[in-house]
Amino acid sequence: MSVIIERFTKATKSHYELLLDADPSRKVVDSYLSKSHCIEAKVGLKVIGVIILLPTRPNTLEIVNIAVSNDFQGQGIGRILIEYALEFAREHEMKTVEIGTGSTSVGALYLYQKCGFRMTHIDKDFFSRHYDEKIIENEIELRDMVRMSQDLC
Ligand code: ACO
Repeated sequence: MSVIIERFTKATKSHYELLLDADPSRKVVDSYLSKSHCIEAKVGLKVIGVIILLPTRPNTLEIVNIAVSNDFQGQGIGRILIEYALEFAREHEMKTVEIGTGSTSVGALYLYQKCGFRMTHIDKDFFSRHYDEKIIENEIELRDMVRMSQDLC
């Protein structure tokens, strides 16, 4: 399988399907999309993954959204997207890359630690405060965000 990773500027329906899988609020997704570097993974013409990089502070990028389509999960695409993002950050002379995920997102927490991210703190009640709808994941109500980061050298 040949996977192509490249930038995109205009989000299509296929991008939104993935973006909303990682972040269920269209309002929140739209709030960061236009300010971010948007990267897609494609097999042929099919978009199978996205990763969105938002510059937050000087020398700091945050991965605000990452998703791989169901049929392609567990095949290393998520890791390829994160490694691409880390390389992108180095090329743009960033010093720190951050990421936040739900405390209930066990797979994502596993992946991020495998890619070198360390936990920094918990943003308690982040999801209860910022999302109108209750989010249930792995049979647990999602309330807290785990904040993670890694320094680039
Ligand atoms: N359980 C255990 N381990 C996992 C899981 C899981 N559910 N998912 C990934 N991993 C581990 C794998 O074992 C793998 O380790 P290895 O390389 O040593 O074998 C490593 O993480 C990389 O896995 P990939 O196959 O590269 O991950 P994948 O392509 O499946 O993408 C992702 C992971 C993006 C989390 C995908 O499952 C997904 O799209 N989920 C739905 C959307 C989502 O939850 N996104 C994250 C929200 S947080 C945010 O966007 C900032």
